[in-house]
Amino acid sequence: MATNSFGRLFTVTTWGESHGPALGATIDGCPPNVELNASDLQYWLDRRKPGQNKYTTQRREADEVKILSGMFEGNTTGHPIQLMIENTDQRSKDYSEIMDKFRPGHADITYWQKYGIRDYRGGGRSSARETAARVAAGGVARKALESLAPDIKICAYMVQMGPHKINRTKIDLNEIEKNPFWTPDADAAILWAEYLDKLRKSGNSVGAVIEVIASGVPAGLGAPIYGKIDTDIATAMMSINAVKGVEIGAGFESAEFTGESNADEIGFSEGKPQYNSNHAGGVLGGISTGQDIVCRFAVKPTSSILKERDTITKSGNQTSIITKGRHDPCVGIRAVPVGEAMMACVILDHLMLHRGQIGENQGEIG
Ligand SMILES: Cc1cc2nc3c(=O)[nH]c(=O)nc-3n(C[C@H](O)[C@H](O)[C@H](O)COP(=O)(O)O)c2cc1C
Repeated sequence: MATNSFGRLFTVTTWGESHGPALGATIDGCPPNVELNASDLQYWLDRRKPGQNKYTTQRREADEVKILSGMFEGNTTGHPIQLMIENTDQRSKDYSEIMDKFRPGHADITYWQKYGIRDYRGGGRSSARETAARVAAGGVARKALESLAPDIKICAYMVQMGPHKINRTKIDLNEIEKNPFWTPDADAAILWAEYLDKLRKSGNSVGAVIEVIASGVPAGLGAPIYGKIDTDIATAMMSINAVKGVEIGAGFESAEFTGESNADEIGFSEGKPQYNSNHAGGVLGGISTGQDIVCRFAVKPTSSILKERDTITKSGNQTSIITKGRHDPCVGIRAVPVGEAMMACVILDHLMLHRGQIGENQGEIG
């Protein structure tokens, strides 16, 4: 059963485990003649890589990506692109404690119930090391977008850590790169640093909310019913480890609006429709409106914590567990580049689908 792939035309299959020799992604359907080299992908991988500061796991991985196929003289050929990242800093003994026990909140129990075999070292396939492969694939998607639709820009940032939300009047996108939390609110970064430090030292963890924006997306991407662009974005984000909720535009807040306050009013200037708000998050009827596509996803707190929790062994005996080893105190931080990568893959896939069915034609307004 093929459950390790996503995308319709730009398809990505990821492979590998946390403590295996390597992991990676196989991309099929990438357009040819896209300029690409490993350093283009490394830039994005470096943002996700572990051990960057005290707020992420202390596992030290270079996350160096190799492109093994699908390239000729610095350009994609249109054939499958094989990306590989070696695992270099595994410490399997950290996991001997959980060999026979299930970490509450982690996938140990369901992997065991489904497969009857489980690579407990680092969580095996359930480890978020797998997301390194997605980030590398997202880098390829970005390069393809750059050549097919250079106006499209994708950017993600953290808007909430635990109960602490950013102040939206203080959003400055230039701040994102300047703090360890990828947040556009410099004051929030200061508060979160103190808050997370306390939690981390006490052996606990916390959740987060990440916002992903795709701007410059032309109107018309997506398709009705089963090919909706928002469905595919939600699926992509929900597939990221630890994600428990996804919303598009006003999302769950839409339930509080009336029809009058929710409808994004439409005007016409500069030869195109102009909306006076974006509660729809850039998608109507599963099709992009040309406004920013806005998505948020909620990430739960890391389940591998130093706090003692009740659990059971494989043989069903009651016991307790404290998970040692090197874990992220707030997995939301490193989920930011993963969210961007998934958005890039979905947008490229839909751009290619749109061109395949409709070409450059569009319904004219004005
Ligand atoms: C970037 C990232 C890093 C993560 N790091 C850890 C970690 O260090 N320890 C841990 O227990 N879970 C971590 N997780 C979460 C687990 O991978 C996830 O909870 C697990 O696979 C179970 O899946 P589920 O939470 O989606 O149900 C991380 C998730 C992401 C996105």
